[in-house]
Amino acid sequence: MLEELLRRNRHWSARRNAEQPGYFEGLAALQAPEFFWIGCSDSRVPANVVSGLAPGEVFVHRNVANVVHSSDMNLLSSLEFAVDTLGVRQIIVCGHYGCGGVRAATETLPQGQADHGLADHWLEPIRRIARGAAEELGRMNDPETRRDRIAELNVVEGVGRVAETPILRRAWARGQDVRIHGLIYGLKDGLLRNLDCTVEGPAGTGEVQA
Ligand code: CO
Repeated sequence: MLEELLRRNRHWSARRNAEQPGYFEGLAALQAPEFFWIGCSDSRVPANVVSGLAPGEVFVHRNVANVVHSSDMNLLSSLEFAVDTLGVRQIIVCGHYGCGGVRAATETLPQGQADHGLADHWLEPIRRIARGAAEELGRMNDPETRRDRIAELNVVEGVGRVAETPILRRAWARGQDVRIHGLIYGLKDGLLRNLDCTVEGPAGTGEVQA
């Protein structure tokens, strides 16, 4: 299996170099991506492939169910590097329909069946989102429709959380043009949809007036 993977890699490298001589030397010297992608780890939603972007064009962070935890050092250090050092102008939080993480967060396991272990901790924000939208979700009869709506709300929440990080607030304070977009990907049609929740600047100081 690994041999096959390495064989494919050699084939890809040779073909890429034949198409564009000096391609790898150019990339090795500099990465200047326009995009930072926060997406789900799901193998069916690879950032570069579904967005049609080449190596060097998108800096990527992925985790189970594309959750933005405000204290996730892995995500925050990637975000900080993307914004402060690479100077990306577009941040994309991308969820997807049919997300197994959303399903795990919202399903009720039969009695006696083991829980999802650590994933139950990781997915806590999704359960909170589902509770917060209980009224809207209650009007949907189909469980898959409900989960897909939760996946959308999780993206909107993630966009808001990225916007609240000191990393973005500092970037905007110094006049950096960086926007955060929320997209959702359909496994069944391969299409990205804009959830129209773009944030282009700070929402306010958060200062509480006495
Ligand atoms: Co997923």
